Amino acid sequence: MLKRFSISLEENLLKDFDSYIAKRQYDNRSEAIRDLIRKSFVRQEWEAGHNVVGVISLVYDHHQPQLQEKITELQHNYHHLINSTTHIHMDHDHCLEVIIVRGKAKKVQELAESLIATRGVKDGNLAMNSTGDHLH
Ligand code: NI
Repeated sequence: MLKRFSISLEENLLKDFDSYIAKRQYDNRSEAIRDLIRKSFVRQEWEAGHNVVGVISLVYDHHQPQLQEKITELQHNYHHLINSTTHIHMDHDHCLEVIIVRGKAKKVQELAESLIATRGVKDGNLAMNSTGDHLH
């Protein structure tokens, strides 16, 4: 059930908010505010070390000696966290690996950091997701 409440904002802040939501294609302020609230709950779930889901993406040159083996070995060390891994051959030299993970936030971050810090990984990212429901 939806409940209504009103919010008071400084004029400038509201102006900035309206241009923010227009850029992000929101139809109305309510949906934008709901997303912002949920996003902050998701962040809190990660910070509190709850069970979370996430997506790790890595870009690397597969010619780099031993790199592929290292990435595979790290994933085996954390196999209980990994739901699936997809490997895409981006171009002649580069691979994109997308790893879907699930588990305690701290462990998931540890895995992502080790993968991203591996020498030869050119780009890496951890998308931190969750439902935001854990707090209630
Ligand atoms: Ni490849």
